[in-house]
Amino acid sequence: MNPLSGKHIVLGLTGGIACYKAAELCRALVKEGASVQVVMTEAAEHFITPVTMQALSNRPVYGSQWDAREPNNMAHINLGREADVVLIAPASADFMAKLLHGRADDLLSLMCLARPAATVPLIVAPAMNREMWANPATRRNVAQLRADGIRVLDVGQGEQACGESGDGRMLEADEILADLVAFFTPQALAGRRVLVTAGPTYEAIDPVRGITNLSSGKMGFAIARAAREAGADVTLVAGPVGLSTPRGVRRIDVRSAREMLGAVQAQVDGVDVFVATAAVADWRPANAADQKIKKDGSGETPVLRFIENPDILATVARSPRAQAGLRGEAGGLYCVGFAAESHDLLAHASAKRARKGVPLLVGNIGPATFGKDDNALLLVDELGATEVPRADKLALARQLVAEIARRLTRGSTSGHGA
Ligand code: C5P
Repeated sequence: MNPLSGKHIVLGLTGGIACYKAAELCRALVKEGASVQVVMTEAAEHFITPVTMQALSNRPVYGSQWDAREPNNMAHINLGREADVVLIAPASADFMAKLLHGRADDLLSLMCLARPAATVPLIVAPAMNREMWANPATRRNVAQLRADGIRVLDVGQGEQACGESGDGRMLEADEILADLVAFFTPQALAGRRVLVTAGPTYEAIDPVRGITNLSSGKMGFAIARAAREAGADVTLVAGPVGLSTPRGVRRIDVRSAREMLGAVQAQVDGVDVFVATAAVADWRPANAADQKIKKDGSGETPVLRFIENPDILATVARSPRAQAGLRGEAGGLYCVGFAAESHDLLAHASAKRARKGVPLLVGNIGPATFGKDDNALLLVDELGATEVPRADKLALARQLVAEIARRLTRGSTSGHGA
């Protein structure tokens, strides 16, 4: 279930060039299943037209507190009452100062003040020139708005429309969307640290050739994203993939299995959950050549010899903290393995769970998942097998993260696991 589906969002636009990003944001929110009611200040209408926002939200836009369309003529009350959240993007420096003082001289500021604050949260995405953002007045306002319970999102860094470069750009639409999704996601992993491996590994034959596999990394990236949405501090160790890093996730890029093992071992201290989704090469060329192997015209072909790679998951699972996690002890490391099989999923997944020594093994049918956007999972733990029906990988990842969180609580309260 998408965390935004069925949510009603009032999207407020105030005056700033970042209004162009609000169009993209509105579209993204609608695509995620939310209904969006746009409210614009007069200044915002200088930057983008209500026509654009109406077309994207599929609802008439409100702008004036004197708008007579509402039967009771109280748009400022009705709009706020109906919302699950009020999101101001972009929020100008002036609008934040108005919010701070409880001023209410236009529809949007009136609505913010009049909304039932206990049940309708207010989120603002600031957008301004870097000097304005750095000004002590703005710093004070941001701190006070946060103290008042208003969620002030970060700003982006980089080139600004004014030609300067620094802090103050509004976040991109997909970043605001990610923050909003996290806002609506139960924080089941708050305070937990999660380490994920993802993607294939690449084992060099010589400086220009190597052996890899078809893993896209999509499932591991989706799990990192879902764990972050659920409030975890997430580190993602990624093999060579062309995927962008989920918002708020720390990413370490590696190539070979041995590099991946090194990165995992350097990060695993203090981690609560280790999820190994990477398709690690089982073998690597025994002697990678320092120089490109050349054809010498003799017609002879090179012979490759292989040696076995370390098993990252099994190595981590042998550690005393992982053993404590396997017994369901608080403070232990909970390890989750994946198995891509072509047949007899339950039998193979159960056997792999025992062989790797992990409390939870997630099975999937390999050829049906590599590179695809959807998949189906079989969760095998000490209590048996649970099917997670076919869905896109992000939806599966969110369910898997919820299942992991449930098992962490179960383990630490019952004191026994596998
Ligand atoms: O043995 P197999 O490759 O089928 O096991 C798959 C599981 O073990 C996955 O969770 C994968 O990430 C992990 N693994 C690993 N290091 C290896 C091989 C597999 O961490 N060298």
